[in-house]
Amino acid sequence: MNTPLQDGFGRRIDYLRLSVTDRCDFRCVYCMAENMTFLPRQQVLSLEELYRVAALFVARGVKKIRLTGGEPLVRPGIVGLCEKIAALPGLRELVMTTNGSQLTKLAKPLAEAGVKRLNISLDSLDAAKFRAITRTGYLHQVLAGIEAAREVGFARIKLNAVVMKGRNDEEVPALVNYALSRGLDISFIEEMPLGDVGRSRGESFCSSDEVRALIAQRYELFDSAEHSGGPARYVRANEFPDSRIGFISPHSHNFCATCNRVRMTVEGRLLLCLGHENSIDLRALLRRHPTRDQPILAAIDAAVQRKPLRHEFSTGGEVQVLRFMNASGG
Ligand code: GTP
Ligand code: 5AD
Ligand code: SF4
Repeated sequence: MNTPLQDGFGRRIDYLRLSVTDRCDFRCVYCMAENMTFLPRQQVLSLEELYRVAALFVARGVKKIRLTGGEPLVRPGIVGLCEKIAALPGLRELVMTTNGSQLTKLAKPLAEAGVKRLNISLDSLDAAKFRAITRTGYLHQVLAGIEAAREVGFARIKLNAVVMKGRNDEEVPALVNYALSRGLDISFIEEMPLGDVGRSRGESFCSSDEVRALIAQRYELFDSAEHSGGPARYVRANEFPDSRIGFISPHSHNFCATCNRVRMTVEGRLLLCLGHENSIDLRALLRRHPTRDQPILAAIDAAVQRKPLRHEFSTGGEVQVLRFMNASGG
């Protein structure tokens, strides 16, 4: 059991995305329906269980853990959880994906707790468009939160924008300028067909190639050979060579061949691929064996062996995975 986690196709799995809540203070149109119901508390892993999951995966060779949601920062006790996970021997980095709404308050405690990098969602700099996409009026707080995170000095801050035609595609150059002029990275994401969000995604689908063309109208771009091991392909702009512009293109350039990750939902279901419904219920095992790790480690190993080769997302707009993104761990 001491060999590193590897799936049936020889891919090394050393990255866990751990969802700490399905709840969120936003209702982004690509992620949630307007009226969402959230999980009852007894179905959600406790902070102790989340820590145990993290420790078990680190024991199996996971080097990077990203805390996701929902919005991780609405989970009470999140800073203490970060502190405990960050201290796990063998973990290289603890990172987080957040919508940024709580960062004015929490950026400093998170950095002190050992969170190394933040990815912050920012789909628009225009208050009306931001409200239309997130169904909240928190643009101001998010921008202040980004500034707070910059001041604290995280190793890297990356912005994430899901680009949708007619909603925020015209803002792509402004978002690039906002990020790069502050020394931040930015990634543009193709929308994925997870959950019935009450609108057709097909009409607003915007490919990464289209996004790149929009940026190239304003900036001279050059390809960057680097690969984070993650889903993004990167370019840089001549004017701001220190920042990276990433494209996450599950449709047009899927990155399944180099996939290095699995996800754990806050219900304790292990998802082997974002694009498949299959999951393994680890919560039942965690609760059945509160002090014995062996059965859970064995279940993790067996599950990873069954990781599918790739997702089969299409851009047609139809829902392909019933699970919502907030229940999938971002
Ligand atoms: P770093 O490489 O550490 O910056 O992280 P990341 O880009 O993996 O993390 P982030 O949470 O910022 O992910 C951004 C988006 O990439 C997610 O919200 C998803 O939309 C997409 N993504 C991440 N992992 C996967 C994956 O395994 N499959 C698919 N299809 N999309 C993914
Ligand atoms: N398609 C692509 N990205 C999505 N996100 C949420 N829902 C979707 C979707 N359907 C992204 C957000 C955020 C991260 C948590 O997940 O932009 O960056
Ligand atoms: Fe919340 Fe993130 Fe989903 Fe938006 S994308 S509703 S911020 S979990």
